[in-house]
Amino acid sequence: MTTLRMKTYDILIENHAIEAVKRLVEDGSNRKDVFVVTDNHVKALHLETLRRVLDPIHLHVVSITPGEASKSVSTMLDVIGQLLTMGIKRDHLLIGFGGGVVTDLAGFVAAILYRGITYAAIPTTLLAQVDASIGSKTGIDLAQGKNLLGAFKDPAWVLIDPMFLETLPKEVRIDGLAEMIKAALIADPVLYQMLKDDDEITEKKIIRAVEVKRSIVMKDPYETHERMLLNFGHTFGHAIERKHHYETYTHGVAVAYGMLIAMDLGVRQGITPKALYDDVLNTLKKTKLVTEPLLLASDYVSHIGFDKKQLSDGLRFIFLEDIGQAVIKTVRMEDLL
Ligand SMILES: NC(=O)c1ccc[n+]([C@@H]2O[C@H](COP(=O)([O-])OP(=O)(O)OC[C@H]3O[C@@H](n4cnc5c(N)ncnc54)[C@H](O)[C@@H]3O)[C@@H](O)[C@H]2O)c1
Repeated sequence: MTTLRMKTYDILIENHAIEAVKRLVEDGSNRKDVFVVTDNHVKALHLETLRRVLDPIHLHVVSITPGEASKSVSTMLDVIGQLLTMGIKRDHLLIGFGGGVVTDLAGFVAAILYRGITYAAIPTTLLAQVDASIGSKTGIDLAQGKNLLGAFKDPAWVLIDPMFLETLPKEVRIDGLAEMIKAALIADPVLYQMLKDDDEITEKKIIRAVEVKRSIVMKDPYETHERMLLNFGHTFGHAIERKHHYETYTHGVAVAYGMLIAMDLGVRQGITPKALYDDVLNTLKKTKLVTEPLLLASDYVSHIGFDKKQLSDGLRFIFLEDIGQAVIKTVRMEDLL
């Protein structure tokens, strides 16, 4: 088992790691109950496995409707209501078992219920394994924008079992792949080469992608500087999602186009080598994350405005000088055209 150490908790990664989850849940105590937030897809596909490996611990399960719409105030209150009805107390453990929607929502519930209860994550999508469940950000969406309500909540542990990905639909898998390519581009040339050679998702590649996020978050847990590097491709990625009302492009696809827009701006500003842009374009085409004609910055600039990354003195924008060398520069809106 690979164990990556965060400041206060471990991230455990291995195929079939789920078999070891009982030891983590018991944690030297005599737990008889555990509370699980999941969604209806994951419940149907994988809850039985969790029940089996945790037996005889009793699972109290709250299952939400799959999808981003569930990262809402109303679902959050509903989940909290169900947990309270089931008898959750301050010293119970709450597990988020699902994709990023579930881990963001369950983590947020754990952060605020009784002013904080113990939380752990078992992410089941590629995006949640390499991104959403790492770094302690939790949250829900408001009508005014995504992730506007949230908290930093350190889990007790994160267990990543790539075996869960076997049931993942292709279009969900590809979203995670985009974040892996992003991680590789900002910090890990070896991972970039591995993904370029073959986009099959392996335990080794997941470990490397998690390590990129881990090391950046360790340096800057509250996103005052380095952690912004993880937003590479996301300024335009979010603008693309917003303009199309989160319907036309999935998050990963929007980020892929966003990375190309960021690199194109970098080329025009003399920061990014043109050969690097061409190489990444080919990789993203090969993985089917993008197709030509590409999306244009000019069509999306006006949709950047309300992004949380916009600060009072300008926009922190991430450029790529080389693979593994991302830089943060403050730009004005007009620089982005
Ligand atoms: N907290 C963070 O740092 C952070 C970082 C990145 C993204 N996020 C958040 O993550 C969310 C997106 O996460 P996501 O892409 O995992 O989406 P998701 O949670 O909506 O999952 C996508 C779909 O896959 C299904 N699914 C989950 N596991 C499965 C499995 N093993 N087999 C088959 N189907 C499965 C789900 O039911 C859902 O239909 C967004 O809300 C985003 O804001 C958070």
